[in-house]
Amino acid sequence: MRVDPSHFRRAMAEFATGITVVTTRDSRGIPLGLTANAFCSVSLDPPLVLVCVGERSETHAGFRDSGRFAVSVLAEDQEDLARQFALPGPGKFEGRRLVGGGGDLPLLKGALAHVLCRVWAAYPGGDHTIYLGEVEHLEVFGGRPLLFHQSLYHGLGGRGRDS
Ligand SMILES: Cc1cc2nc3c(=O)[nH]c(=O)nc-3n(C[C@H](O)[C@H](O)[C@H](O)COP(=O)(O)O)c2cc1C
Repeated sequence: MRVDPSHFRRAMAEFATGITVVTTRDSRGIPLGLTANAFCSVSLDPPLVLVCVGERSETHAGFRDSGRFAVSVLAEDQEDLARQFALPGPGKFEGRRLVGGGGDLPLLKGALAHVLCRVWAAYPGGDHTIYLGEVEHLEVFGGRPLLFHQSLYHGLGGRGRDS
């Protein structure tokens, strides 16, 4: 059965996620980054996360070139960053408050957490590549997250409940 792409998108939009900005550098050291919600933890031992990166994304080259990437988990007040890093092409880092990460990967100031990774494995995933990253360094700041649901940005909007 052929799945209608817009129906597929609508179904996936029901799955609420956090929002990250995933950054890396190309072979010349130029910073690259994109907004990504296809991010999750995979394994505790070894510590692995995954991120799915579109093959047509400019950021994709940096994963190959540097073999490393960093994830900034966005806070509720960082919607402007989510929008800026969802635009294609360079120049997204201009005027942004960055903090240097391990190996000089760019990280966004004000994020809830920073996760620095070495590419551990890469798998084909249709028009995306699934990158597994081995976590080399972590920083946790905490706070209220930026969320994405039904193609809209949200805050938590209330006190959380235990799972
Ligand atoms: C809420 C949201 C989530 C996104 N999640 C992903 C993702 O997980 N993986 C991905 O490759 N692109 C994702 N995108 C799209 C990229 O951010 C977008 O294609 C960006 O322009 C790529 O930039 P680049 O070509 O400079 O790398 C998402 C966009 C939005 C708005």
